[in-house]
Amino acid sequence: MKLETVAVVGLGYVGLPLAVALSETARVIGFELSKARIHELRQNHDRLGEVSETALDGAEVAFTGEADALAGADAYLITVPTPVDSAKQPDLSLVLDACRTVGGALGPGAVVVLESTVYPGTVEEVCAPVLEQASGLRAGEDFFLGYSPERINPGDADHQLGQITKVVAGQTPEVLSALTKLYGAIGPVHEAPDIRTAEAAKVIENAQRDLNIAFVNELAMIFQRLGIDTGAVLEAAATKWNFLGFRPGLVGGHCIGVDPYYLTYIAERAGYRPEVILAGRRINDNMGRYVGAEVARLMIRSDLPKRVLVLGVTFKENVRDIRNSGSVDVVRELESFGFAVDLHDPLADPEGVAAEHGLRLIQTPGDNYGAVVLTVAHDAYTAWSARDVEDRLVDDGLVADIKGAWHGLTFAPRVKMWRL
Ligand SMILES: NC(=O)c1ccc[n+]([C@@H]2O[C@H](COP(=O)([O-])OP(=O)(O)OC[C@H]3O[C@@H](n4cnc5c(N)ncnc54)[C@H](O)[C@@H]3O)[C@@H](O)[C@H]2O)c1
Repeated sequence: MKLETVAVVGLGYVGLPLAVALSETARVIGFELSKARIHELRQNHDRLGEVSETALDGAEVAFTGEADALAGADAYLITVPTPVDSAKQPDLSLVLDACRTVGGALGPGAVVVLESTVYPGTVEEVCAPVLEQASGLRAGEDFFLGYSPERINPGDADHQLGQITKVVAGQTPEVLSALTKLYGAIGPVHEAPDIRTAEAAKVIENAQRDLNIAFVNELAMIFQRLGIDTGAVLEAAATKWNFLGFRPGLVGGHCIGVDPYYLTYIAERAGYRPEVILAGRRINDNMGRYVGAEVARLMIRSDLPKRVLVLGVTFKENVRDIRNSGSVDVVRELESFGFAVDLHDPLADPEGVAAEHGLRLIQTPGDNYGAVVLTVAHDAYTAWSARDVEDRLVDDGLVADIKGAWHGLTFAPRVKMWRL
């Protein structure tokens, strides 16, 4: 089995870097629904900031929005979003749409690989019937299934696609070996025994991270009541060799705050009611409101002006992605106390923030705020000096450093400090 022509379906954070990397060793078709995205990629521009203009210019990827162009590929790699709906249930509609498109183009002998994060059983029990119906072919006989979850971490220069071990699984040993060869050309590969195992491995990676952060977030809320500095406690505890170094904070984005619900959904369908995983989700989902309420409480107690500067609205530092941003909950909570909030972020797209969250970004932070709340530790903010922060505050204003990013700075004694 030779996978020489590969179609990547969905060219976002996952699909585009993958298509570009694969184009070194395979003929790559990059298929995407958004016309605007195809247009910008053809101009060698990646609005998400993950692939440079030079890399795009040097890569031979045939970007297209025409489903007809998908015909004849040896492998189809599906990299479309897997969100949850308003009831926190898995929303596989985009995956299934992509399967219908791929099914319409699929020829005998081809391999369909899902890269999106899903629950165990999705590829074989949910995708396969849709692919079969759209293609008129039989999975496992006429065409084959695979799964290879994506682990990239946007904004993380130390863990680029080529350095991350890729878990791969195939419906047959031949498929597995062909996929190992395909992905092995990009970086290290781990062969999982079957597709369900690989699906489960991905979804627990993010659930584990969510839980670890939920634990330190719970500690932060306990120590707040006890009047103990959580950062100092964690620093002391971390001197033990097997203490895990997690920090409290807002958990947002489309992965860590979403994927655990895929696991709890399938657990419940199997008759098991998850306790720990859902408790972690509740704690992390509530953190933005908790931070907003604590800042409001401290400001009211000190009779500070009800104007707040919130720094950062992307879901984490040094990325542009604003989906499921925890900062939005901070802003909303502060507003519910009647505070006027100025929201700033040097990386977020103002139009995107307005469309997705109904919030307006200010271009330049003002001054005389009652509090400055650092919610996202972008490099642009961690580079601020104590003076830069103080210049934006009233004399005895509050600095709420949610990420502990300004911990090393020495502020004037009159400035009030708060961190998780
Ligand atoms: N972004 C990450 O850091 C990351 C990391 C690991 C795993 N994942 C997982 O990878 C998957 C994709 O995430 P993402 O962040 O790349 O999403 P994304 O929103 O950045 O990109 C998805 C792209 O797919 C396109 N699309 C949607 N439906 C389509 C269809 N039917 N046909 C063609 N294109 C279609 C969208 O227009 C979009 O450009 C998700 O399951 C996510 O959980 C993401």
